Amino acid sequence: MTSTLVVGASRGLGRGFVERLLTRGDQVIATTRNEADADVLHTIASSLGANNRLETLSCDVAIADSRSALAEALDGRAIHTLIHNAGIYGPKGICMGELPETDWKRVLHVNTIAPILTAQALLPQLRAGATKGGAKVAFLTSLMGSITDNSSGGSYLYRSAKAGLNAAARSLAIDLAPDEISVLLLHPGWVQTDMGGIAAPLEIGESVAGMLARIDNLSLSDSGSFVNWSGKSLPW
Ligand SMILES: NC(=O)c1ccc[n+]([C@@H]2O[C@H](COP(=O)([O-])OP(=O)(O)OC[C@H]3O[C@@H](n4cnc5c(N)ncnc54)[C@H](OP(=O)(O)O)[C@@H]3O)[C@@H](O)[C@H]2O)c1
Repeated sequence: MTSTLVVGASRGLGRGFVERLLTRGDQVIATTRNEADADVLHTIASSLGANNRLETLSCDVAIADSRSALAEALDGRAIHTLIHNAGIYGPKGICMGELPETDWKRVLHVNTIAPILTAQALLPQLRAGATKGGAKVAFLTSLMGSITDNSSGGSYLYRSAKAGLNAAARSLAIDLAPDEISVLLLHPGWVQTDMGGIAAPLEIGESVAGMLARIDNLSLSDSGSFVNWSGKSLPW
């Protein structure tokens, strides 16, 4: 049975991935930053009759020791699909003239650096997963990381962080191709979560179903692509 690791599964899209994967019978490892959120995931799994298919582990992707502890907890295991969902927007409504250096570094750290270092920490598990037909890494990015699409300005912190993730993940796609590990950059759409807000047009279930279809269909030939939840190719 293939196993999927969802990093950042406490709420929003991450929790949506866990629910959908369990519903269809996959073996899921989900990370949260605190125990209470892991308990909620187990309650959901029980209600689906799937608690034996859910394992929860702790990880704060921005903390090196926490990434190492996750890798250690999964030592000797095979991961077939890593979904790196964790991300932050940072403070909203910040304009040029008041850009905050500390917050910007934090957003870059969580959204750009941490996802790649998490994948790096889990390379042995992904390589083990790849021995049976390839492994996959999907990063939750954003259309707001597209330089071509940026016609409205602003959002310096989040835009630059997701653009950086896109750039780094392209390198990862090229570098991991010999290991038969495919990489995908996924824009979930504008979704009703804590980050997306209630005005967002998409519900979590619809976005997650679309993104999982993209991950299921991913192969080495389209590794490194940047697509939205419905499969539309997005401009860099
Ligand atoms: N919603 C949208 O419209 C939208 C659009 C484009 C892209 N995205 C991207 O989609 C992903 C999920 O977004 P969402 O809307 O579900 O956001 P959300 O509701 O704010 O949830 C964010 C998730 O990331 C986790 N997280 C944040 N920092 C973390 C860290 N340092 N270590 C581990 N986990 C961390 C959170 O855990 P805690 O509960 O512990 O904080 C939470 O599970 C993000 O990467 C986001 O940038 C979302």
